[in-house]
Amino acid sequence: MIKSLQQALEQRYATKVFDPSGAADEAKIEILVETLRLAPSSINSQPWHLYLITSAGEKARIADAAWDANKPKFRDSSHLFLFCAKTRFGADEVREIEQLAADVRGVAVNEERVAMMTAYVNTMTDAERLEWMKKQVYLMFGQFLLSCALLDLDACPVEGFLPEKMDELMALKARGLTSVVVGVVGQRSTDDFNSLDKAAKVRFQREQLVTEVR
Ligand SMILES: Cc1cc2nc3c(=O)[nH]c(=O)nc-3n(C[C@H](O)[C@H](O)[C@H](O)COP(=O)(O)O)c2cc1C
Repeated sequence: MIKSLQQALEQRYATKVFDPSGAADEAKIEILVETLRLAPSSINSQPWHLYLITSAGEKARIADAAWDANKPKFRDSSHLFLFCAKTRFGADEVREIEQLAADVRGVAVNEERVAMMTAYVNTMTDAERLEWMKKQVYLMFGQFLLSCALLDLDACPVEGFLPEKMDELMALKARGLTSVVVGVVGQRSTDDFNSLDKAAKVRFQREQLVTEVR
């Protein structure tokens, strides 16, 4: 397992050119979505929502919000994941999670925990809370990239888009959401200039990454 994890991470790369006639395997996409559902978050807040877009028309429409270099990735990938954060998180959202926990576990709502978690989220300003929620989304996004690697799915992480334009195109404000990051999945093109045979992986050495204190 450890070897296959390392191999998967060595072999994955950010796919830059997709074959528009190919598509990611649907069964793998289902597993991928389930791994995202299982992503952990601070106080189990799960302050996120995902759009999984496969419609060619919709992918082309929202490519308008992407930087020029990323537009073809939006169009030519088969599955576009738009990772969104909630725009508010307060007492109601805390209660929703704690009610769910009580239902799943067959116990009464833990009012003490509701009060404690509500006080915690209220220590943050609105801007800090949004930042905190975006960090949770990135945790899920890390899980997305790792899952794609383990599932041998060709994917590219994409921050290169205009979030405000994306929010507008997807009418996210009305749903209490804002766009954070995109992940596109599909079939790599044989012309992909970023495949590992053409562009070796570039990473700092272990000593530059880790300071060990023993
Ligand atoms: C959060 C994040 C955002 C990224 N945004 C873009 C992007 O907008 N366009 C793009 O072509 N690559 C994007 N990348 C890909 C990185 O350039 C790539 O992951 C990095 O160079 C390391 O290469 P590798 O993933 O092939 O190992 C992004 C990667 C991450 C993790």
